[in-house]
Amino acid sequence: MKLHSKTIVITGANGFVGSHLCRYFTEQGANVRALVKQPERCRALSAHASGGMYRCQLPSDIDEKAFSGTVSLVVHCACEMKAGIRTANLEGTRRLLHLSQRADHFIFISSLAAHSEAHSLYGQSKWEIELEMQKANTTIIKPGTVIGNGGVFEKTRQLVRKSAILPLFYGGSRAIQTIWIGDLCRVIENLCLGNSKGTYVAADFPGVSVRDYYRGISLLENRHRWIVPFPGDFVLPFVQLFERWHLPLPLSSDNLLGLKHLRSFAASKVGVNCLSYAQSLAALATEEGNFSAARRLECLRSNSLK
Ligand SMILES: NC(=O)c1ccc[n+]([C@@H]2O[C@H](COP(=O)([O-])OP(=O)(O)OC[C@H]3O[C@@H](n4cnc5c(N)ncnc54)[C@H](OP(=O)(O)O)[C@@H]3O)[C@@H](O)[C@H]2O)c1
Repeated sequence: MKLHSKTIVITGANGFVGSHLCRYFTEQGANVRALVKQPERCRALSAHASGGMYRCQLPSDIDEKAFSGTVSLVVHCACEMKAGIRTANLEGTRRLLHLSQRADHFIFISSLAAHSEAHSLYGQSKWEIELEMQKANTTIIKPGTVIGNGGVFEKTRQLVRKSAILPLFYGGSRAIQTIWIGDLCRVIENLCLGNSKGTYVAADFPGVSVRDYYRGISLLENRHRWIVPFPGDFVLPFVQLFERWHLPLPLSSDNLLGLKHLRSFAASKVGVNCLSYAQSLAALATEEGNFSAARRLECLRSNSLK
């Protein structure tokens, strides 16, 4: 394994994707430096951070020691989702890129929500950074919704567990593109080893409809759920109003805007034969020891859930 004993820096290391990357590269024998907002609160992660834990609070409170010596790869997963999202992410990424000047490879984890016509703050913020990263000749990965035990997928799974009705906004035919967390780790490793620069879409194509996306999770959970269409544009102003009143909601106006302007991207050649959505769900069920769900999902491979 070529990254054995190499130094790899990972931001957002206590997050869903970041923590999987820490484990993946540590298991390959790499020297992983985990960057988190509060190292003292992330002790459990230290088993997968052989190179130590460092402070990184975007935009500017970043421990420079994390970038000392020979660094083979920096994977930037951290993403501010709350206050000052655009400034924190853009300024923070600029600062990280500056600190990574001597690193062999810099990978920015973007999103399929990032494109020139994005309306969500999240999508716009990622797109702004993509434009800068293109100029800086780095690697940009646009993953689909990552299937695993965290992130937005886990949030939808929680909704499926709690609610008998699942809302279908803006019609059910929009495609959700996905990637299995294990495949995403392999894609990052491959692009680093191949010294590949540019933008890569790491997602199945054409993906599944939102309706099938929900159906897949309902099968994983073995619960019957009613998938009910709601007019997104009608609901949006109410969600915005509730947000102004700081009332908790299962989804944000940014989520709705993201759904409304969802775009499909052809998958890039990333040297990994990525699992389909149904296969990813089956892999997750197997990992969780839920073999009956895995069998149910395996049966779907040739069915409508691609
Ligand atoms: N999961 C997906 O389906 C998906 C799909 C496409 C792209 N992505 C991208 O992949 C990356 C990782 O996503 P994820 O699912 O792993 O999200 P996550 O679990 O929410 O992780 C986000 C990480 O960013 C950290 N963070 C937030 N604000 C920060 C700040 N101001 N300074 C430093 N760190 C900060 C969080 O730290 P705390 O937990 O301590 O706040 C956390 O470690 C993100 O860039 C996301 O946009 C994810």
